[in-house]
Amino acid sequence: MNDSLLNALQRCTPRLGEALRPYVMADTFKASFSAEEVSALQQASGLSATELALALLPLAASYAITPLSHFNVGAIAQGISGRWYLGANMEFASAPIQQTIHAEQSAINHAWMCNEPQLTAVTVNYTPCGHCRQFMNELNSAQQLTIHLPGCAPQTLHDYLPNAFGPKDLGITDTLFDPQAHPFAAQSDPLIEAAIDAASQSYAPYTRAYSGIALQIDGEHWVTGRYAENAAFNPSLPPLQSALIMLQLQGYPVSAITRAVLVEVSDAALSQQSASAAILTALGGYSLETVTVFSK
Ligand code: THU
Ligand code: ZN
Repeated sequence: MNDSLLNALQRCTPRLGEALRPYVMADTFKASFSAEEVSALQQASGLSATELALALLPLAASYAITPLSHFNVGAIAQGISGRWYLGANMEFASAPIQQTIHAEQSAINHAWMCNEPQLTAVTVNYTPCGHCRQFMNELNSAQQLTIHLPGCAPQTLHDYLPNAFGPKDLGITDTLFDPQAHPFAAQSDPLIEAAIDAASQSYAPYTRAYSGIALQIDGEHWVTGRYAENAAFNPSLPPLQSALIMLQLQGYPVSAITRAVLVEVSDAALSQQSASAAILTALGGYSLETVTVFSK
C-alpha cells in the first residue's frame, strides 16, 4: 500500500480507520467498495451512507497527482449497483493544462470502465467546477443525479447546472453509460485487441471518432481507457486520460508502462494521436503505437 493511502487511513476517525484497514491493505483493493463492503463500513463506523461517502473523500483524494496545483481533490461515484468508485484529480507537468483530469471525471470514468450501468450520486470534497457539471450532464442519470459536498445539503446536478446544454441540443439521444458496442474487425495481438475492445465501447456520438487505449504494464497486465465525448466538446475525456485514471487507481506507477497502443477509426473526423503522444512524452518518453480500424 502506498504512503498517501496510509496517511489518509490515519486521518480517518479511529473507528472508520480500523474498519477500512483490511479492505485498503488487501492486494486486491482497486479503489472501489462493493455494496456489501459499504454496508459493513457503515455498521462498523456508525455513519450513514452520506456521512460515510464524505468521510471517504480523503482516501479518494490520496490518489491525486498534482504537480501543478498541489490541490488534491477526491470524488466518489456511487453506482446503482451499490458499488462506490473512488477518483482523484491528475495533472501533467510539461503538458498543456487542458489535459488535466478532474476528480469527478476520474471517479465517473472509473465506474464506467467497470461497466457500472448508472450513477445515483457523486460525492466530492470541493464544489464541482463548470467543466465537471457539464461532464456529468452527459450521464444517463443526469436528470436524477445527486451531488454531495461537505457542509452542503444534497442537491441535484440540475440545481448546480440550471438551463443545461446537453446531448439533446445536438439531436443526440444516446448518453454516457448507455452500453456501446461499435463493431470493429479483430486483430491477433492481445494488447491491440484490448485497445479495440475499449474503442468499441467508447462514447463518441458527436463525431463517431471512436477510440481506445491499452497500456501494457510490466509485461503481464494491461489497463485500458475509452474516449468519452461531451456535448460541449471541451469537457470530453480523451482515451489516454481514461487509461491513466485506471492505471493510478489500480495502484500502478506510470513507470510500469511498457507499451502503449491507441486504436482509432480510419478516416475519422478527429484524432487522439498527437495529444496522446504528447502526454506520453511528458510522462517520460513513452512511445505510442497507433492502429486504425475499420467498422465491420
Ligand atoms: N479540480 C477538480 O478535480 N475538480 C473540480 O471540479 C475543481 C478543480 C482540480 C483540477 C486541478 O487539478 C485542480 O483541482 C485545480 O483546479
Ligand atoms: Zn471540475
